[in-house]
Amino acid sequence: MLKNKSLVSIDDVSNEDLEEIFTLSDRMLGVVESNKNPHLMDSKIMATLFYEPSTRTRLSFESAMHRLGGSVISVSDASSSSVAKGETLADTIRMAEGYSDIIVMRHPLEGAARLAAQFSSKPIINAGDGSGQHPTQTILDLFTMWKEFGKIDGLKIALIGDLKYGRTVHSLILALSRFNVELTVISPPSLSIPEQFFSRIPENVKVRKSEKMEGFVEDADVLYVTRIQKERFADKNEYLSLIGSYSVDLKIVESLKKNAIIMHPLPRIDEIKPEVDFTKYARYFKQASYGIPVRMALISMILGVN
Ligand code: NCD
Repeated sequence: MLKNKSLVSIDDVSNEDLEEIFTLSDRMLGVVESNKNPHLMDSKIMATLFYEPSTRTRLSFESAMHRLGGSVISVSDASSSSVAKGETLADTIRMAEGYSDIIVMRHPLEGAARLAAQFSSKPIINAGDGSGQHPTQTILDLFTMWKEFGKIDGLKIALIGDLKYGRTVHSLILALSRFNVELTVISPPSLSIPEQFFSRIPENVKVRKSEKMEGFVEDADVLYVTRIQKERFADKNEYLSLIGSYSVDLKIVESLKKNAIIMHPLPRIDEIKPEVDFTKYARYFKQASYGIPVRMALISMILGVN
């Protein structure tokens, strides 16, 4: 049950909740396609507080709220808000909860959403906390797999890229660990999954580790590719030394199973070559489009109107 609850970590969502979210997201897909206002959020206000860059996440949350008939107030640039004057997050949240019914927040610090939830009587949705988690991205990632394969159980998933700083993979690993899947984790050695997430993978989930894709992606149903999280590196030279260390190109694509799909939370830099976009495997733009129905479903369930 998500009603009136904050969504800070993927642990806040049970597998039962996921089933309900998928069914409702499918219904919301119909609402989007029919272009009719269901008036589910009349008189409700969402506040979006984004203290880190975002395109898809903020736009899709705001679009989702508008599609449901609600309204949105927004801070998209910390330098234009009172944070720039030195206001603490706790005080900002105490204000925002008075101005809105639900708060969506992205913040550069891991744990910021958890802290915000402690100070807020209104539900907080974590839209990314530093290199912590990004639970709503994970839900739309799982929805994409569910739409493509009709199930999550039994899938072979290769997680590729910056597994150290990538918050989308952190939440995704925790979620996939609750299903009967096989995981292959592929990253340069210095970007492997932090122990706090890796140690949560239970024994029944088979895991392989590799530094390269060749020989490790050919049997995968899903390639989940991520960008190197440039903004998290204390040493820019370390980032520069990793650029181009992995890339999905046509040669990799030709080695895949015929029903495999390639996913990416986006933005993509150079880890998927543009020519891959035109192959039948590319699913990342479709995946991004699911951000709308999935977030419509989540907002409705959290505000208890569906
Ligand atoms: C991701 C994020 O912000 O963590 N983007 C997104 O929300 N779709 C992935 C990324 O920035 O690499």
